[in-house]
Amino acid sequence: MLTDRAGSEFLGRVSLSVAIMDSDAHRRANVAAALADFRNLQISQISSFPIRAADLDQILPDPYNIVLLNVDCDPALAFALTEQLNTNPQIYLMVYSSRVDMKLTVQLMRAGAREFFVFPIDAHEISSALARAAERYTIASQEARASSRLFVFLGTKGGCGVTTLAANFALALAQESEGNTLLVDFGLPLGDVAINLGITTEYSVRNALQYPDRLDHRLLSTLVAHHSSGLSVLASPSEFSDAAMPLDSIDRLVAVAAESYRFVVVDAGSRIDLLGTALFDKSAIIYLVTQVGITELFNANRMVSKFFFTRDQTLQIVLNRYKPSDLVFDEKKISEALTRPAQWKIPDDYAAARRTRETATPMVLIDSPISRALRDMAKSAAGLTIGKSDRKGLFRFLR
Ligand SMILES: Nc1ncnc2c1ncn2[C@@H]1O[C@H](COP(=O)(O)OP(=O)(O)O)[C@@H](O)[C@H]1O
Ligand SMILES: [Mg+2]
Repeated sequence: MLTDRAGSEFLGRVSLSVAIMDSDAHRRANVAAALADFRNLQISQISSFPIRAADLDQILPDPYNIVLLNVDCDPALAFALTEQLNTNPQIYLMVYSSRVDMKLTVQLMRAGAREFFVFPIDAHEISSALARAAERYTIASQEARASSRLFVFLGTKGGCGVTTLAANFALALAQESEGNTLLVDFGLPLGDVAINLGITTEYSVRNALQYPDRLDHRLLSTLVAHHSSGLSVLASPSEFSDAAMPLDSIDRLVAVAAESYRFVVVDAGSRIDLLGTALFDKSAIIYLVTQVGITELFNANRMVSKFFFTRDQTLQIVLNRYKPSDLVFDEKKISEALTRPAQWKIPDDYAAARRTRETATPMVLIDSPISRALRDMAKSAAGLTIGKSDRKGLFRFLR
């Protein structure tokens, strides 16, 4: 049996969740004991099997990194379960049997099992398999992080429209990224993203920041709420608290969010105190939201020249509630104040804003000048050229 130290060294700093699926309590305990020396495994024991492989989600609702499946049940079910588990690319599937059956082994490996053990499982074999799982997990996380994109909405003044724009932009991205978008509300305390989207939430950003060492993909997935569009939402706390937000925990949250979601959208309110965190990493796209008012443009000027002057395309200025007819300043003056031209103009759309309040339907879900502008922003953000009129299929080629 491996020592505790050796086990931890094998898996490095990676923390993995493991589900042992076996109907036999004695065998389950035996497998759990073989894993007991690995400190950074979170082990769950699952005693029931679904009658049909398609019902597996009800038994395994949480995303596990490793599933250790006993395949001594009906071979057809074992095969179907293996295939079903293999459809989730996050799971590293290990199977074990009390019998040595070459034919079954080959069949299960072809169906997606990565490791095959004979019960009782040899400690050395399982430790090598765990090391392979940890390595694969590390590579997959790095790849996911590298391909994920972070969009941060920051206002030059409260009431500029940061929440409206961030929430609707995120919805537009989520609709076509098959739920692969997370919206985080940093407008602490009492941010109103959830209210704007008409959803109730149990957990918040505060829970995600509380235990940075424990935060991983699995924990994050239990903290988010889901909008019917497929958008995941990490809301702001609904209570005031004296506790300061630990800035290094924000970096951890940003990293885990990037591993878990293709697009991460942040409502940063007017929180320039978050500038030193990973939210404003140079790879993040910052949308600086302003209106064409004296205070807003003055603040925008100071913010661009002080904090963002080194940014090129990663700073996008958004003029919200834009009404060309009653502009106090002309375009040239606005660009001078901003030190560069604004990339986006979101029309003042009182009717759409009122309809949102009355029907609790987010703006971007109903066709209007504002929803068209927001969809164009979202498409461009996803690296696409702006299409013509095919609204439903806007992002189809993203998949
Ligand atoms: N483009 C727009 N047209 C009309 N009303 C808007 C627009 N953008 C925002 N609003 C309205 O302005 C108010 C403040 O917006 P909000 O998104 O809460 O601002 P912030 O989050 O910056 O404080 C809300 O009532 C919202 O409906
Ligand atoms: Mg807000």
